[in-house]
Amino acid sequence: MKTLIKNGHIVTAVDSYIADILIDGETVAMIGKDLSSVAGAVDKTIDATGKLVIPGGIDPHTHMDLPFGGTSSSDDFETGTRAAAFGGTTTIIDFAVQYHGQALNEGLDAWFAKAEGKATTDYGFHLICTDLPDERLPELKAMINQGVTSFKLFMAYPGVFLVDDGVIFKAMTEAGENGGLICMHAENGVVIDVLVKRAIAEGRTAPKYHALTRPTKAEAEGVHRAIAIAEMANSPVYIVHLSCYDALKEVQAARDLGLPAFAETCPQYLLLDYSLYEKPDFEGAKYVMTPPLRDRENQEKLWKGLRSDDLQVISTDHCPFCMKEQKELGRDDFSRIPNGGPGVENRMSLIYHHGVAQGRINLNRFVELTSTAAAKIFGLFPKKGTIAVGSDADIVIFDPNREQTISAATHHMRVDYSAYEGWKVKGVTEVVLSRGKVIVENGEWKGKAGDGRFIKRGTFA
Ligand code: URP
Ligand code: ZN
Ligand code: ZN
Repeated sequence: MKTLIKNGHIVTAVDSYIADILIDGETVAMIGKDLSSVAGAVDKTIDATGKLVIPGGIDPHTHMDLPFGGTSSSDDFETGTRAAAFGGTTTIIDFAVQYHGQALNEGLDAWFAKAEGKATTDYGFHLICTDLPDERLPELKAMINQGVTSFKLFMAYPGVFLVDDGVIFKAMTEAGENGGLICMHAENGVVIDVLVKRAIAEGRTAPKYHALTRPTKAEAEGVHRAIAIAEMANSPVYIVHLSCYDALKEVQAARDLGLPAFAETCPQYLLLDYSLYEKPDFEGAKYVMTPPLRDRENQEKLWKGLRSDDLQVISTDHCPFCMKEQKELGRDDFSRIPNGGPGVENRMSLIYHHGVAQGRINLNRFVELTSTAAAKIFGLFPKKGTIAVGSDADIVIFDPNREQTISAATHHMRVDYSAYEGWKVKGVTEVVLSRGKVIVENGEWKGKAGDGRFIKRGTFA
């Protein structure tokens, strides 16, 4: 199958020019001016005049079909990757979980079973490790050799996911020596647990107390500690879902010292704020996620961090739960509201609109933050994350001038609300190719469950 994309405005993390792209099979074969004369017979021609042609988005933080808080996130690998594709994201890196008593492989195998035959686009896995006695540490290297080159550790959720500082140090040492990367959920979960128990005992049970029991200092302390332990272990560290200026200052200080500290933030921390928890009638539950939404003042600091490269990646932490029957589990106790929110479909348009169209970041940085940087940090580059000869033809044709209104009535995520209901955004994904195959075209789904492949990732370079 040969496809010619004509006359588009190709944007990568470093380039911006008008040209044609010839796709042969699954990869980009040629890029140049007026390729019609040299392409030979093609099966499909797409006119991209006036459109942006960008690398497919990479979302390195999703939770499809994740058991959490007595239920499971409502998107599985089919509905979640399909929704991602509609929004211009063609690769996800999801979090598999190793539970207590399991070998690392057991955890990973369970997530392969969830994804295989279902994923519509390519995917990789990080592995959440919850139980790492010394004898299990060598299993980290075995995972890295299988292409699962990053691991998430939690400083939060005592008794469920939390691992102590000794375990974090040992895991970072082992990962660092073998080209692995530790992703850290950085929050002082022990202090937070005390605050949560006190709030419940005192009858403060509404959704807003989720936020009020997770202060920014608890996150900043976790980030500081994660980076300090990484420095002692001589390893890089990647802070996930960084939400506030207090935490960002810790990353900034480390990077100013030249330490290999990296961090992502998410659209919800750039665009939504604490006031949403004050909504009446349990509506605040829609925004119960961890870390919580912060005061509005944090948002421009995070945008500045994205411009100055103190933050390298925008992921979503897509972890949807329906209001009906899922978020409702915590109607009388905020600590029982499953933590997480939807967003995988909205990331590219939200960041284009609020980032590029509103002058906060330029087009190249948009591509870097939503695709290229994640590809580089997580060992997917240059197969993914750019448009270059030989790269996978994961390509998005994006109309920068069309407007859309975000709504649960029209989105493709399997969740009964949108955190951005009624928001108008400029910038719409029109055509999506996954390894050369058109999977979305003008609002129509053309992909297939099971077409997505597991991608073995490279080590941290
Ligand atoms: O609230 C969130 N973020 N849920 C997903 C789990 C996590 O910590 O990333
Ligand atoms: Zn987390
Ligand atoms: Zn997460």
